[in-house]
Amino acid sequence: MNALLAVRDLEVAYGNIPALHGITIEVQKGEIVTLIGANGAGKTTTLRTISGLLKPRRGEIVFNERNIGGTKPDVITAMGVSHVPEGRGIFANLTVGDNLELGAYVRKEKITDSEYERVFALFPVLKERLKQNAGTLSGGEQQMLAISRALMSKPNVLLLDEPSLGLAPQMVQAIFRVVKEINAEGTTILLVEQNAHMALVTAHRGYVMETGRIVLHDTTKALLASDRVKKAYLGG
Ligand SMILES: Nc1ncnc2c1ncn2[C@@H]1O[C@H](COP(=O)(O)OP(=O)(O)O)[C@@H](O)[C@H]1O
Ligand SMILES: [Mg+2]
Repeated sequence: MNALLAVRDLEVAYGNIPALHGITIEVQKGEIVTLIGANGAGKTTTLRTISGLLKPRRGEIVFNERNIGGTKPDVITAMGVSHVPEGRGIFANLTVGDNLELGAYVRKEKITDSEYERVFALFPVLKERLKQNAGTLSGGEQQMLAISRALMSKPNVLLLDEPSLGLAPQMVQAIFRVVKEINAEGTTILLVEQNAHMALVTAHRGYVMETGRIVLHDTTKALLASDRVKKAYLGG
């Protein structure tokens, strides 16, 4: 089966300093695939390159059988790859509603009532907050908004960068529950996390990254049972 999204032998550098040393990751349609690794491993660099914010030095990025390496970010979003950045990237001085409308920008049509209903079904609190400035939301609510905004471009693939970062445990559970729900409704997900345990119980397959290289990949079941993963990422 051809992957819906793949990076192959991807090399990325910041100036002369390499960050990714030829990584290969494949995501099949319908999967949740997680990319785990310590701070500085290269997870964010991987997602930023897939979404067109960084240029690969070598290797290819294939989405839907097309090589999208070097394509502009807004074009990639319009093609069906939507990125929820690390730190969420919401506009604090705009309302929740306006942030959502910005997510719909690339498709050049307004958000329909039924799409709003879908967002409110996933995250009921956003309905109450619709007219509030996004900066007044809690961290967890801002993450909900960032995910909802990304859904407004009707993605086939959602790239999530550390959705649980800085959130209270209960909020982390809520976010991962919705990640699973979005996937069950048909969106393929590439999930980057430092919270290896939550990522591995949520995803179907996983890749382990260390200093710009993929050192292990398998089903999440196998990774959860792996001594190497347990020792390095699961505190045991
Ligand atoms: N804007 C940047 N300029 C220079 N080096 C960077 C930049 N962003 C990240 N790096 C370096 O690239 C490597 C990978 O970083 P990153 O992709 O952010 O890792 P992760 O998301 O896994 O924490 C690190 O060594 C980091 O210091
Ligand atoms: Mg990161």
